[in-house]
Amino acid sequence: MKTLLTRDVSEAARVLVGGGRVAFPTETVYGLGARADRAEAVAGIFEAKQRPADNPLIVHVAAPSAVLRVAEALPDHARRYMDAFWPGPLTLVLPARDDVPRIVTAGLDTVGVRMPDHPLALALLKEADVPVAAPSANRSGRPSPTSWEAVRDDLGGRIEAILQGPPARVGLESTVLDCTGAVPVVLRPGGVSLEALRSIVPETCLVTAGDGAAARSPGTRHPHYRPDAIVRWVGPFQAGEPAPSGSPSAGYIGIHPPPEGYARVCRVADQAAYAAELFHFFRQCEAEGLTEVHCERFAPDGIGHALADRIRRAVGVD
Ligand code: TXA
Ligand code: MG
Repeated sequence: MKTLLTRDVSEAARVLVGGGRVAFPTETVYGLGARADRAEAVAGIFEAKQRPADNPLIVHVAAPSAVLRVAEALPDHARRYMDAFWPGPLTLVLPARDDVPRIVTAGLDTVGVRMPDHPLALALLKEADVPVAAPSANRSGRPSPTSWEAVRDDLGGRIEAILQGPPARVGLESTVLDCTGAVPVVLRPGGVSLEALRSIVPETCLVTAGDGAAARSPGTRHPHYRPDAIVRWVGPFQAGEPAPSGSPSAGYIGIHPPPEGYARVCRVADQAAYAAELFHFFRQCEAEGLTEVHCERFAPDGIGHALADRIRRAVGVD
């Protein structure tokens, strides 16, 4: 299959409405969209990504009012989060309407919904005028794509179209927040921090391992975010320290200057910049044939919690 590369939103929307798979930019990472109201279109997403069937998809909408096209009800706290953070990197898990194909929700009676904060994504969703199921546009298990080129490298020839836009601003995926119980629970840390959520609903909590976490958040069961190189935590470094073993064939990403001897270095100003660069850096190191990527440790705050979560999973210590 030839994958259409386009900057034309209307052209991309036509492909989407016709049942095709269209990758598109969002503020978090690029998504791989298909109309959520057609089971066959959604099946094509699982096939292209080789995604396990037990991992549900997030439905993307162009406006807060469109949430009721897929959600059965809107709990009061969900409405408060929407007012505060939509459009933005926050996915709300809500009771699903009966007419949402269960391939979207991986058989669950809940559906994840978000309104992305990106002009091209919003224009595409508006023009298509259908709810759009979209996971990150990478092959399953790989780092999420933060550029259209990364989408092409993973899925070129396997999907109908890519809407080309700029690199993603946040660089990590949305926060997934379960709003179906009495107390809202963060299932996946992401672009909106726990502190920010607690400023709206103070009792918001993080899912814990003993909570049946794997059952509530199926995505966390599978290996994730792995480039074709070993990812390791290092540091934090102080001036004059010797480099860890493996550094001549490794890349380094971190806030402090690393010891000499790394093949490639990505210095970032803060945790937000670290988040924005991480997945791109993974792919760069891989393309250069480096065998390891070293990520500098840090004391997380804000987006840093999501960043640490992604690095932990890439390292393979969950
Ligand atoms: O920022 C993002 O969220 C990006 C962009 C494209 O919007 N999308 C994304 O999708 O990261 P994906 O499929 O890579 O991750 C979706 C996560 C998975 O961990 C999945 O298990 C969880 O959301 N999820 C989706 N629907 C759910 C539901 N009904 N209940 C619990 N978890 C759900
Ligand atoms: Mg993903």
